[in-house]
Amino acid sequence: MEYTKILIKEALNARKNAYTPYSRFDVGAALLTFDGKIYGGFNIENAAYSVCNCAERTALFRAVYDNYREFKAIAVVGAKSEEKGEILSSYAPPCGMCRQALREFCNPKKFKVILAKSENEFNIFTLNDLLPESFGPEHL
Ligand code: THU
Repeated sequence: MEYTKILIKEALNARKNAYTPYSRFDVGAALLTFDGKIYGGFNIENAAYSVCNCAERTALFRAVYDNYREFKAIAVVGAKSEEKGEILSSYAPPCGMCRQALREFCNPKKFKVILAKSENEFNIFTLNDLLPESFGPEHL
């Protein structure tokens, strides 16, 4: 897919500024709108640990603030802070809370979640793969 590598590059770039003094686990995300805009996000931690915000939700909320309400795909990368390069040793699948947050603004059968270690090593899922039988706005 044409946009996959671009999103991974943007997610790796976003990851560089992650604020992670507690976990030392840096996550980056890049969220694609239907008109081709990309919103980056990284995790932002807090001394009160439960206030930590994941990279995916940082990207999502930045985009929603700018009035986007539907998205095409997200790339996510994550690894320990000491891993600085463009090739990471692990995948960082989105947490349950982020899966549900994305569900609000995505078609689960179409929205792509790209989990990457590098521009050349990645797996692509739909949101429905990661959050089957999900609850969304149409249920209310
Ligand atoms: N983290 C994310 O940014 N995204 C996820 O979906 C999983 C976890 C962050 C939260 C915390 O700052 C660190 O990774 C360790 O859990």
